[in-house]
Amino acid sequence: QKATMIIDKDFIIGDIDNRLYGSFIEHLGRAVYGGIYEPGHPEADEQGFREDVLSLIQQLQVPIVRYPGGNFVSGYDWTDGIGPKESRKRRLELAWRTIETNQFGLNDFVDWAAKAKTDVMWAINLGTHGVDEARNIVEYCNHASGTYWSDLRRSHGYEQPHQIKTWCLGNEMDGPWQIGQKTATEYGRVAKESAKVMKWVDPTIELVACGSSSRNMPTFPEWEATVLDHTYDHVEYLSMHTYYSNAANDTPTFLARSLEMDDFIKTLIATSDYIKSKKRSKKTMFLSFDEWNVWYHSRDADKQRDPWEIAPPQLEDIYTMEDALLVGCMLISLLKHSDRVKMACLAQLVNVIAPIMTETGGKAWMQTIFFPYLHTSVYGRGKALVPLIHSPKYDTKEITDVPFLEAVAVYNEEVQEVTVFAVNRDLENALPLEVDLRSFGANSQLIEHLVLENDDLKARNTATDSSRVTPHNKGNAEVSGSGLTARLGKASWNVIRIR
Ligand code: AHR
Repeated sequence: QKATMIIDKDFIIGDIDNRLYGSFIEHLGRAVYGGIYEPGHPEADEQGFREDVLSLIQQLQVPIVRYPGGNFVSGYDWTDGIGPKESRKRRLELAWRTIETNQFGLNDFVDWAAKAKTDVMWAINLGTHGVDEARNIVEYCNHASGTYWSDLRRSHGYEQPHQIKTWCLGNEMDGPWQIGQKTATEYGRVAKESAKVMKWVDPTIELVACGSSSRNMPTFPEWEATVLDHTYDHVEYLSMHTYYSNAANDTPTFLARSLEMDDFIKTLIATSDYIKSKKRSKKTMFLSFDEWNVWYHSRDADKQRDPWEIAPPQLEDIYTMEDALLVGCMLISLLKHSDRVKMACLAQLVNVIAPIMTETGGKAWMQTIFFPYLHTSVYGRGKALVPLIHSPKYDTKEITDVPFLEAVAVYNEEVQEVTVFAVNRDLENALPLEVDLRSFGANSQLIEHLVLENDDLKARNTATDSSRVTPHNKGNAEVSGSGLTARLGKASWNVIRIR
């Protein structure tokens, strides 16, 4: 049993948009308060931003962060979070049943994003608000001066416009849990009208229309077809969301879920292209996979919580080794479709279903899923190459023909490096891998072979034992001539870097 792979400089899927490695911060749980913002913490800077957290985010080289929600945004009034902090309103936050103090808001996030070296992806409220908010917030953020909203920003100490380029038109508007849920037609209409006025204020911005909340929604993919029918000429991206769970403790099926992600993406490419043909349009719709992750560990605990607390721990999944493997497979899925998926956001970034955890008042640490995200973000820039793979396969009750090898290669022309990202889904056996390096030539050399593995698939990092699951660089890959060979350890994440 072995797997083979052919990679070639000329077999290109597409240019990887750096924003494929985006993430997400929502006003939810301790993502903001106690996560990125904690005045009085020993590591907090003069604005209350935690520098220990900032430094982990900078390691990840996160190119863009979606904010302020999520479900939160559909009941949010962004004007509550601007101006002097002492006069900001406390509100009941209905999406997550907490109290929002508004001590952190729009300008704070823009300042934080600059320190995190990331761009802002702002989601507007199309739940309780609409076209009017849509034009006002773009004017506040992006118009230079001389109008009510732009001068209000200047009066708040921001002389220069924020120039936020990427905007989401609401969040999961098909979901019954959403404040102000809409039918596809209702949403399509308000999204189009909002898009029009936003671009009239600033024609340089790019917009994301809401797709279904998941592939399991009853209206998927009719929702997307209807929404795009209304918005096709006015937006650049269609959003996708998915979360996977191993609540059934069926790891072979869990690790195969990224094949569903592949199908989900293919369906939305087909749906977008159907509307493109219907409209005789020359424009290609791109996809923004702006929420994706594993999410299930904290669901029971969250049901026990009392409402109306300020920044309680919510959605604090502590991730396992096997979760990191699926996250790796999902990253590979995004890379395999990087010709159409131009943006994606690991949901979320700090404390809430996140790669980075903090103790309020204490340390910050890295979860297992931090590592595949780190490796792809740092080494997965450039062009994704078509993975021509032959792999032994397995079947589960639910999903059949699952290749043990999940892999893709990325060619970074600037630094003349090629990196193979590979997961061995086999839980029992190592998988011999042979890669034909074709046009990379006979002089290729191995830089390193990083591996994330652990005999215990349920192993986790915690605040007290924060380095139980960490990568090592003792992988056994060898390059000779124009061939690469490796034995991928059972249930392992591998990063093989070649020059
Ligand atoms: O990321 C957590 C939540 O998941 C988001 O608020 C929502 O958009 C999705 O359902």
